[in-house]
Amino acid sequence: MTLEICYILAAILFIVGLKRLNSPTTARNGNMLSAVGMFLAVAATLCSGDLDYRYIVAGLVIGGAIGGAAARMIEMTAIPEMVALFNGFGGIASLLVGWGEFHSGRTELGSGTLAAIGFAVVIGGVTFSGSVTAYGKLSGKIAGRPVMFTGQQLANAILLIVTLICSALMVAGPGFAADYRLFAVIAVLSLVLGVLAVLPIGGADMPVVISLLNSYSGLAACAAGFVILNKVLIVSGALVGASGIILTKIMCKAMNRSLTNVLFSGFGATVASHGAKTEGAVNPMTPDDAYYVLEAARSVVIAPGYGMAVAQAQHVVRELGQLLEDNGCEVHYAIHPVAGRMPGHMNVLLAEANVPYDQLVEPDAVNSIMETVDVGLVIGANDVVNPAARDDKNSPIYGMPVIDIARARTVFVLKRSMASGFAGIENPLFFRNNTRMLFGDAKSTVSALVASFKA
Ligand code: TAP
Repeated sequence: MTLEICYILAAILFIVGLKRLNSPTTARNGNMLSAVGMFLAVAATLCSGDLDYRYIVAGLVIGGAIGGAAARMIEMTAIPEMVALFNGFGGIASLLVGWGEFHSGRTELGSGTLAAIGFAVVIGGVTFSGSVTAYGKLSGKIAGRPVMFTGQQLANAILLIVTLICSALMVAGPGFAADYRLFAVIAVLSLVLGVLAVLPIGGADMPVVISLLNSYSGLAACAAGFVILNKVLIVSGALVGASGIILTKIMCKAMNRSLTNVLFSGFGATVASHGAKTEGAVNPMTPDDAYYVLEAARSVVIAPGYGMAVAQAQHVVRELGQLLEDNGCEVHYAIHPVAGRMPGHMNVLLAEANVPYDQLVEPDAVNSIMETVDVGLVIGANDVVNPAARDDKNSPIYGMPVIDIARARTVFVLKRSMASGFAGIENPLFFRNNTRMLFGDAKSTVSALVASFKA
C-alpha cells in the first residue's frame, strides 16, 4: 500500500515537473520536482521487498561512477552525443529486462507478458543500436552524412515485417512461447533494424532522430514496466514517450519537414549539388569599425548559434547586450528552435549568462519587425539565418523557417572563416551588400566590442 502511494506521488511529481519545464522561469524547479519524484520511486522500490542488494549496490556504484565522471568531463557541445548514449542505455535496459523475464519464466509466461516482452525487446533493441549509431555520427566516429544504398527502404521494411511476424509467433504461435532461438532472432533483428534505420539519416536531421529515439526509449521502458508489472515505470515511460514525440514534432515544424521526410529522404546526401550559385562579395570589417555602428544603433537583434557555444561566448555576449542597453539601444535575442546542437541549446547558454528571459524572442515574432532593426548581430549562427531557406527554391533547406536577419539594416556576422554550417550549404547572407563579416573566434570578437564600449 505504501509502495502504491509512493508511486502515485512520484507520478504526480513527474507530471507537475514536466509541466513546469514549459517556461524558463519555472524549468529549474520543474527539474527538481521530477528528480525528487525519481528519488521517491527508486527509494520506494528498493524498500519494497526481498531484493538481492549486492547486485543493486554494485550497479549503483559502477554505473554512478561512470555516469558522474562522464557528465563532469563532457564538453557542453558534446551533450547531444551524450543524450544519444543515454537514450541507448535506456533502450538496452528495457531489452535486458525483457530478456531477464523471458529467461526466468520461459515455460509459464502468459501471452500478455510475452507481448510486453516482445515490445520491450524490439523497441529497446532498435533504440539501443539506433542511438549508438546516432552517437557515432554526431561524434564523427562514423560518417555523419546519410549512408544510402539502392533498395534500402525496402530492406528496412522487410526487416521490420519479419521482426513483427517473429514477435507475433512468440506471443501466439503454438509451441513457440518458450523458444529461445526465436527470442534471439527477434533481438538480433531489432538491433540490425536500429542501425539500418539511422544510417540513411544525417546532416541537419540528427536532432530530430535523437528526440525520436528518446521517445522510443520511453516506450521501451513503458513496455518493460508491463513486463515486470511496475506502475511507476509504465507511467514514466509513457511520459518520456509522449514528450519525446511532441518535441520531435516541434523540431520537424521548425525545419518545415515531415517526420516521414526526415526519416526516409536521406536529406543532406546530395546537398552539395543543389542550390543557386551565390553572387556578391564578402566584406570583412574590424571590431573597431563595427563598434561605431553598434554605438549608433537604436535596436539590435542578436542571433546566436552553435559557434557561440563553441566559443563559450555567452557571458561576453550578455555583457555586450547590457552595454548596448545602457547606451539606450533596444536589445533582443532571436532564438531559433534548432540553433546549436540540441533542443534549447541557446536558451540554456543564455540562461547561464543571466540574460533576461523577456529579451528572448522567437523567429516569427522578430521577423515581422526585422526591417526596422538597425543591426542584426549573428554570433556563430549559420544555417538558422540562411536566407536561401526563404529565397532559393533549389536550396535543400528551402521552406525551413529561419531568422530573417538578412532584412536588418546592417548585419554583422561573427565567425572564424567562410566555412559552412551543420547542413553543409553555402550561406548567401555573407555576400549581401548590408553584411559585414567579423572574422575570428566569437568570444574574442565580442570581447573586443565590449572593450571598445568600455573605453
Ligand atoms: P551552424 O549552422 O552549425 O553554424 C555554426 C557556425 O558557427 C559555423 O558556420 C562556424 O563557422 C561558426 N563557429 C564555430 N565555432 C566558432 C567560434 N569559436 N567562433 C565563431 N564562430 C564559430 O549553427 P546554427 O546556425 O546554430 O544551426 C544549427 C544547425 O545544427 C542546424 O542545421 C540544425 O538543424 C543543426 N542541428 C541542430 C540541433 C539542435 S536540436 N539544436 C542538433 C543537431 C544539429 P566557422 O567554422 O567559420 O567559425
